[in-house]
Amino acid sequence: MYESANVAGDADRTAFRRAEKKYKLYYEQDSKFTRKKKLPKPIDLSELLDFNLISQDYNNNGVLPDGIRVAEVDSSPVFCIENRPGFYFIPGALSLEEQCKWIKESLTNFPQPPNRTNHNAIYGPIADLFDSAKDNKVLVQEDLTNNKWKFYEEVDTVKAKQSSCKSVSASVLLRKLRWSTLGLQFDWSKRNYDVSLPHNNIPDALCQLAKTHAAIAMPDGEEFRPEGAIVNYFGIGDTLGGHLDDMEADWSKPIVSMSLGCKAIFLLGGKSKDDPPHAMYLRSGDVVLMAGEARECFHGVPRIFTDAENAEICALESELSHESGNFLAEYIKTSRININIRQVF
Ligand code: OGA
Ligand code: MN
Repeated sequence: MYESANVAGDADRTAFRRAEKKYKLYYEQDSKFTRKKKLPKPIDLSELLDFNLISQDYNNNGVLPDGIRVAEVDSSPVFCIENRPGFYFIPGALSLEEQCKWIKESLTNFPQPPNRTNHNAIYGPIADLFDSAKDNKVLVQEDLTNNKWKFYEEVDTVKAKQSSCKSVSASVLLRKLRWSTLGLQFDWSKRNYDVSLPHNNIPDALCQLAKTHAAIAMPDGEEFRPEGAIVNYFGIGDTLGGHLDDMEADWSKPIVSMSLGCKAIFLLGGKSKDDPPHAMYLRSGDVVLMAGEARECFHGVPRIFTDAENAEICALESELSHESGNFLAEYIKTSRININIRQVF
């Protein structure tokens, strides 16, 4: 589901692919720049839905753009798109404090075994990745036959290097963390849930948060039951290709998707990749719900903004600068985290 090299000729075939290409990060080819700073190619952002602005306009003047509806005005409005029933956008659903909490959890506790991450396939389960990265530790392959790896202080790895053991620094592994799974473990190779894998329940506070925000998209009288979650970590240039999340049994239940960190572009397509997608900004603290018919709509993230001007990360960065010796703030400056929570059965 993640972006891989384009098969030549495939790139422009559908409206969805064309939109992905339009918003994706490309660098200027100009040789003047290549040796110094790579410059992102400018893109046309004029067609993007900006629910921050829409929300301001609605609160101030009660006006809405064509095709946008308000589903509920409780403390703050929830927006819908007329031709995408089952899709809900809740701008600024999470407070700054909540955003910080879930960023911290996403980097410290969520990748802890028995939860699995993209690193499992190569290194087996890795405990304490975040603390090890903070402490400049290095993961060393101790036992080649059984593929056993262990963290060492940086100084001790000199020995490992002499004996030609494989090694990789914890901070590189943290940077390359791409996903972790909470609750029922999603098996990416088979693209389904493997209920036989050991797992912890989704933390209570996250369940509660998901239930609260899911309520508006739930069938009458039913409460959302969070059973599995996928945490996606995006660094500079990372994208999430157009896909459907179709491994859950009951599509009338929403996927609750929380955005944290750098601003991104989200594409909400239709049931066919030939349908032109709606493009919109996702900011830290925004929550999106996809239920019912929207569960059948292709969606993806072609772009995250990691430059100071567009990332809209200032408040978050300063709030996080008090935590873990600025390590979280440094991480989030060029990263985005998405937690999407699902009822599997
Ligand atoms: C997903 C997904 C969207 C996002 O993980 O299935 O659609 O905003 N994520 O990152
Ligand atoms: Mn998805």
